[in-house]
Amino acid sequence: MNCKNQKVLTSTFEKEVCEGLSAFPKYLSSKFFYDELGDELFQKIMALPEYYLTRAEYEIFKTHKSDIVQRFDENQEGFDLIELGAGDGKKTKVLLHELLNNHFDFTYTPIDISQNAIDGLVKNLKQEMPAVVVQGQRGEYFEVLDRLKHMSDRKKVIMVLGSNIGNLLHSRAIQFLKKLCNVMHSGDFLFMGFDQKKHPQKVLDAYNDKTGITAAFNKNILIRINKELNANFDIDAFMHWETYDPESGTAKSYLVSKEKQTVDINDLSMQVHFEAWESIHTEISQKYDDTIVKWLTKESGLKIVKSFSDQNNYYKDYLITKA
Ligand code: AVJ
Repeated sequence: MNCKNQKVLTSTFEKEVCEGLSAFPKYLSSKFFYDELGDELFQKIMALPEYYLTRAEYEIFKTHKSDIVQRFDENQEGFDLIELGAGDGKKTKVLLHELLNNHFDFTYTPIDISQNAIDGLVKNLKQEMPAVVVQGQRGEYFEVLDRLKHMSDRKKVIMVLGSNIGNLLHSRAIQFLKKLCNVMHSGDFLFMGFDQKKHPQKVLDAYNDKTGITAAFNKNILIRINKELNANFDIDAFMHWETYDPESGTAKSYLVSKEKQTVDINDLSMQVHFEAWESIHTEISQKYDDTIVKWLTKESGLKIVKSFSDQNNYYKDYLITKA
């Protein structure tokens, strides 16, 4: 199947769905999980007993908030806090409260791929923390970075929490970090969450919960294709499958076709054939250790100033500057 010979594909979603489902092996990008239903399912994931990431980072913020915000603006010169992939902002609010209580001069710019998430967060902050100057934006990581350059001359602290960087392969993570490095000035900070390598079963369980929320989250990408591209995926004919390779530290999510089948994606004038047990790769959630994070930052012209960990050492937030 050749995407370019089909009708003109306007949106990235159309283009990438066509490319990914024409490829061998098939793949779809996890960035397409997050529509209204996907946001809701991700909220439920964050509340799962198996999904330790959110609680670990929350614990880090609760424990180290004073040290963290102090370091953001040691000279009290004022700064712009920019968050990529802000989501519901629950963890960030711990830091925002700390900044407000200590009368720091700052603005907050949450950016997310989901307009739904941004609208919700901005509305919530207006109510809950009216003193914070907030400017929400919708955007994807790589696209947003170009925008950051033209934002303001103030000192910047750029946050990427939740181990969101884990969705990128190391090569793409370095591209992303290099771009971040390029928009930073000396004195600016990057504050990034990296989920750590740990017992492989613990990782697997986090992405394969008993209640099937993660399976529903993964399958939402097919529901979205059905809704937005007028397709007829039979959701029950696919199963969620998770793997974790302790060597590479890569957790991978797949949707596996339980039978031989053909799916019509009408808006792409495309038919997709599946052999029995053929897979669609949908997500990677990379796990790290200090050596890997050091290597990634070094390759990107950055350096680690300090890291903060939860009690279990499941998760770390790194404070990073230009090298
Ligand atoms: C939001 C990308 C960090 O990879 O852990 C949760 C998304 N996927 N369960 C992750 C996710 C399945 C999550 N990130």
